[in-house]
Amino acid sequence: MQITLEQKPLPQIETGALIVPVFEGEPEARFGAASLDSGEITGKPLDFTLLHNPPDMAAKRVLVAGAGKREKFDAAELRKLVGAAVRHLKGKSVTRIALALEGAEATPEFAAAAVEGAILGEFEPDRYKTDDDKKTVESFTVAAPGSAAGLRDAVDRAQAIAEAQNFTRALANEPANKLTPNGMVEAARSTAAECGLACEVLDREAMEKLGMGALLGVAQGSAEPPALIVLGYRPAAPSTASHLGLVGKGVTFDSGGISIKPADGMEKMKYDMAGGAAMMGAMRAIAALKPALAVTAFIPCVENMPGSRAQRPGDIVTALSGKTIEVINTDAEGRLILADALTYARRQGCTHLVDAATLTGAVVVALGHLNVGLFANQDGLRDRVLAAAKAEGERMWPLPLEDDYKEYLKSAFADISNVGGRWGGAITAAIFLKEFAEEMPWVHLDIAGTAWLDDGKPYMAKGPTGVPLRTLVRLALDWKD
Ligand code: BES
Ligand code: MN
Ligand code: ZN
Repeated sequence: MQITLEQKPLPQIETGALIVPVFEGEPEARFGAASLDSGEITGKPLDFTLLHNPPDMAAKRVLVAGAGKREKFDAAELRKLVGAAVRHLKGKSVTRIALALEGAEATPEFAAAAVEGAILGEFEPDRYKTDDDKKTVESFTVAAPGSAAGLRDAVDRAQAIAEAQNFTRALANEPANKLTPNGMVEAARSTAAECGLACEVLDREAMEKLGMGALLGVAQGSAEPPALIVLGYRPAAPSTASHLGLVGKGVTFDSGGISIKPADGMEKMKYDMAGGAAMMGAMRAIAALKPALAVTAFIPCVENMPGSRAQRPGDIVTALSGKTIEVINTDAEGRLILADALTYARRQGCTHLVDAATLTGAVVVALGHLNVGLFANQDGLRDRVLAAAKAEGERMWPLPLEDDYKEYLKSAFADISNVGGRWGGAITAAIFLKEFAEEMPWVHLDIAGTAWLDDGKPYMAKGPTGVPLRTLVRLALDWKD
């Protein structure tokens, strides 16, 4: 989608449809008394009225878009409003869309939210549908008459981030027969070439030499070879010695392995690489927006399958860190591959780590589909991630990470067990990872409930969400030691 900024007066904006937000309880004379008196235009959130051939306007249509109460209206609301309006208009085959951004809303923050809403709203998870009449929006214009300074930069930045987020969503939506661990490698290599990042891939042999027994144990049941992807960004003029490591779970399919999952809903386990996809997308935006600190993504990629070579319950593996792990349940595979990736990231010179993983069903029990489960071993990094998340409208909720929970992971035969019993499953998974993050400042984001939208929203299609890419990009851009 082409994104433009226009400063002409609204009547001169040539477009297929001009979106004009109106507020609840604020009568608008602009659209004729009739539509107001009839109660047709309410201003209620996402209540749309489409007017054709509006008089004295270059636009072919005006979409009067309810924005709700003015006091409650913020950038996050505008992002939704524009997303919903773009989806509404796209359904009516409108290909050129503009948004009227006036008065108090003509700020860089609102302009950025509008562009994000449009690009994210336009996305459809329909790559494999073969109908040839797929509707697309060609252009989106922010019409801010006589606009304020800083809009151009904000719009460019928003475009880079939203396009990266759609890249992540498309990758996470790929079925497991189309996207194997090697497919993740191909996506990383083309990302590196396109965006100017360094890319290194550890194959099975390299990982055997290093002793990544936890990751390799998960991979051994699949005919698809594993890979550890390393994508690096280095600033031209670093403002800090900090080096942020982004570790993302890349299980291209999670059958559960020998501890196999029930058939019902198993098809969704193609998105068990959503954490890895979010890190790859974040690196695309970071390469474009150039923060002043070093950032490296580590994406361990495997397919978790049952079979005659597969890892068995009761197997004991030795992780890269040297710790031994008793694999009680082969379906708790995410923490095994992340354990080795976290150790590797520490050894590659990272000073701070953030991981994102579709790690546990238990986090969905705890927080539903609205909040990411957040765990941290250090208050400073935790607060910065929370602040970035809040600014980006990606909801996250801190959960406990107290040492007492380590009891739950006791093994009679190895240093640690890979599962902690029935209770507090999201916490015990995080405690397991903490053993491998060791003393390094680290935040773990359990995105099992938030990386996938089961029912589409007016502003967003069903399927992968791209969470927590925006938070991570902002964390890097706003980095403070
Ligand atoms: N990938 C799953 C977690 C998951 C569940 C993601 C639902 C998205 C939606 C993970 O590998 C898993 O299977 N976790 C197990 C852990 C258990 C065996 C301790 C779980 O949550 O059931
Ligand atoms: Mn699993
Ligand atoms: Zn999994």
